[in-house]
This record gives sequence, structure tokens and C-alpha cells, in this order.
Amino acid sequence: MRKIKIAVVGYGNRGGVYASYALSRPEEAEICAVVDCLEFKLKEAGALFGLPEDRLFLSLDEFLKANVECDIVVNATMDQMHYETAMAILEKGYNMLLEKPITADKNELLAIEKKAKEKGVYLFVCHVMRYSPYFVEIKRLINKGVIGEIFALEMNEHVSAGHFVNSYVRGRWHSEAECGSSFLLAKCCHDLDLMCWLNNKSEPKAVSSFGSRGYFKPEFAPEDSAEYCYDCPRLHTCMYSAKLMHLDNDSAPYVTWEGIKKPLDEITKEEKIAYLKTSIFGQCVYKIDTDLVDRQCVSVNFANGSVGTLNMIGGTTRGGRNIHITGSKGEIEGYWESSEFVLRIYNANLQEYAEKRISVKDKLTNTGHMGSDFEIMKSIVAYLNGDRESVSITSIDDSINGHLCVYAADESRKEGRIVFLEEYKQL
Ligand SMILES: NC(=O)c1ccc[n+]([C@@H]2O[C@H](COP(=O)([O-])OP(=O)(O)OC[C@H]3O[C@@H](n4cnc5c(N)ncnc54)[C@H](O)[C@@H]3O)[C@@H](O)[C@H]2O)c1
Repeated sequence: MRKIKIAVVGYGNRGGVYASYALSRPEEAEICAVVDCLEFKLKEAGALFGLPEDRLFLSLDEFLKANVECDIVVNATMDQMHYETAMAILEKGYNMLLEKPITADKNELLAIEKKAKEKGVYLFVCHVMRYSPYFVEIKRLINKGVIGEIFALEMNEHVSAGHFVNSYVRGRWHSEAECGSSFLLAKCCHDLDLMCWLNNKSEPKAVSSFGSRGYFKPEFAPEDSAEYCYDCPRLHTCMYSAKLMHLDNDSAPYVTWEGIKKPLDEITKEEKIAYLKTSIFGQCVYKIDTDLVDRQCVSVNFANGSVGTLNMIGGTTRGGRNIHITGSKGEIEGYWESSEFVLRIYNANLQEYAEKRISVKDKLTNTGHMGSDFEIMKSIVAYLNGDRESVSITSIDDSINGHLCVYAADESRKEGRIVFLEEYKQL
């Protein structure tokens, strides 16, 4: 097996996760260059991967000019930068693993697809869930025809209250206008990707959707609440108190404190409190001006008549993803976070069915997204070495379809109409 050379553009949270594959499997992969606009991140990466100065770049331009020999570029920049950086990396002829969402714009999406095809390079998308042992097992059963012809895929994603507030009320994805991504695109492009990939015997044809901001808005704020938690009489009692969530519990520190622009372990408690007194992370969750929905349902009609539905709900008690796929011979039902699902198959007389509980717990690594973050790198490194076994890596068209369904759903929700994808692609 050839050792795969990986360059990372955007050495933040996600870039670091993918790069760490080279540390756990040094015989398979090595990091050959890192690009980040923050000097301290380059220093960190340089030390961790033993990179010389001339392999650390403060801009993508400098990296592209340096003609570094590499097998794949991991593009883990933030959402708004994906289009520009992806086009430049593809233009240079590099294979690329691109973070989701590919982009928030349909024309940019189609341009990226076209550029990758024109250049004849591999374009993989970090739809990491496809690579989790759980969905790999489900896809294998579907491909083998175990549940027969798919009738329907019913899915949901419940985003727990803490996660929702951290990322979509206060966090960096709190506003579509500012970040470029809707809630559906930022969170559930994974789910619509899963739907299109699991059902890729057919193609999505039409999409409709409803959704709104129902709870995290001013009329639900307690009467005596202030704009900022640190000025509020409920600082110690409100379940969304910034002190409780961000200072005491320190949930998702890399997201919360990124505005301080210092390595996490160098940020003092005093700096954190000062930050919470003035930044969005210290604002009342009901009073933040935002354009994001907190609930949305999506229906997809596929060309072969099968249907898919997805409910995305922000601010739930237990977070997680449920799926129920029904087919002509049987069905699959499970909760992703449990790493188990149930397979039901009719007996010959149609009067009874056999039920089997399938667990993938023994296949889990302790990396993020139920092992997906490790498995995606493993599959791609193997793919670049000629191994075509992965059921997760399919034509880029499946990823494009999932994204088109997201855009179409948001358009349907905003405009109150069914969106037909063939026509929509031409607009
Ligand atoms: N696949 C998943 O499940 C998943 C999960 C979370 C986030 N994401 C996506 O991953 C992407 C990255 O998210 P993150 O949390 O790692 O963000 P991050 O902010 O931690 O990382 C982005 C990095 O890019 C660097 N950067 C900014 N401008 C740059 C420039 N001009 N040139 C080079 N580097 C630059 C930043 O300094 C930072 O280190 C986002 O698009 C996000 O939506 C995907």
C-alpha cells in the first residue's frame, strides 16, 4: 500500500480531526502541508506532524504556488469559503475531500461538480455519516436486496437543546444571512445525503417543505430577562444561562471561545467572562436576532415512486437520528446513536415476520460521529490506493442530489410551492 500524502487547508476543528488519521495510521498516510491563516495553528500543526517551515502556508495561494506533491487536499475551511477554495484546488488538479456543506448556492454547486469532472480528479465530500459502521451495514443490506424495493425512508434528526443553542442560536451558524447556511443545510445536508445515497437506485424528483422559528424568539423570553445573561436576574437559574452553559459546563469550547482568537488552554476565566458580557455567546437565547428556523419537515418524491421524509427539530431533550426504511421484503428501523438497528423480514406466509437486532458496536472506533471521522479517512486512503470496496464512496452525483434537495426544501419552505428538481437545476 502506497503512503498517501495529505495537505490540509483550514487547520481548525475539522481539519485537525481528519489530519489526526495520519497519526493513528502513520503507515498509510502522512500530512505533507498545512494551510491556515492563523499563525498559532500552523505552529501547532508543524510541531504535531513534524513539518518544516516551507510546508506551512498562511494562504491557499502560497500553497498552490508551491506545487507541493500530494495525493489529496482536505478542504476544511468554513462554509462561506468552500466555493472559492474548492475551485482553486480543483483547478490546480488536486483530488479533494471537501467539508460539507459543499456550498450554499446551487450554481456554485454545479460549477464545483463540473470542474471536478473536467479536471478528472476525485471529489469526496465529508458526509461522514455514510462511513459510520451503522449506515455502511444498512447500505450493504439494501444493496443486497434484503428488504427488497424501497417504499419509503422516514428519517428525523433531533438536535438537543444544548447543541442547538451552542451552534444555531448563539453559535457561528446562528444566521443564514451571515454564515450562508440555513439550519437544514448546516445540520441536515447529512440526512438528505443519506436519503439520496441509501436510495440511489433512483433519483429525487420533487421536494416540498414547511418550517418556522417557533420557540427561540422574544415572546418566549421571561419578562424580567435582560439582553445579556450577565445583566439578567436569571443568570444562575435559566437553563440557557451563558454562565451555566459556556463558563461552568464549557460545552463545545472550540466553538464558544473561537472569537477570542487564542489557543484554548491560554484563555483565562476573566477573559471568558469579559467575552460573555459582550459577545453573542452571552446573549439571551430568546432575543438574538436570527433568520434560522428551529423546526422543518421535508418530503422528497423519487423518480421510481419511493418517498422520503425528514423532520429536523432544534431544541429537543435527547438528540439523535432515527431512521425507518420500509421495503417490499422487509424493513430496517434504528437509532443511530445506539449503534443498533432492527431488521424485519417477512416469513414466506406473509402472516409473520422474523426480527433480528443488528449491532455494529464492535466495529466502532472512538472517533467522532460514531466512528465516522476515522472511517471516512480510512475509506478514502484505501480508495486512492485502488481499493473499490467501499459502499460509502459513490459517484459525486449522489452528494449533489442531497444538496439540491436541501436547497429545494428551503425554497419550498420560503415560497410555499413544490420544487421540481429537473426544472430547478436549469434555472
Ligand atoms: N462533517 C461534519 O460533520 C462537520 C461537522 C462540523 C463542521 N463541519 C464543517 O467543517 C468546516 C470547518 O468547520 P470547523 O469547525 O473546523 O471550523 P474552524 O473555524 O475550526 O476551522 C476553519 C479553519 O480555517 C482557517 N481559515 C480561515 N480563513 C482561512 C483562509 N483564508 N485560509 C486558510 N485557512 C483559513 C481558520 O483559521 C480555522 O483554523 C465548516 O464548513 C463546517 O460546516 C462539518
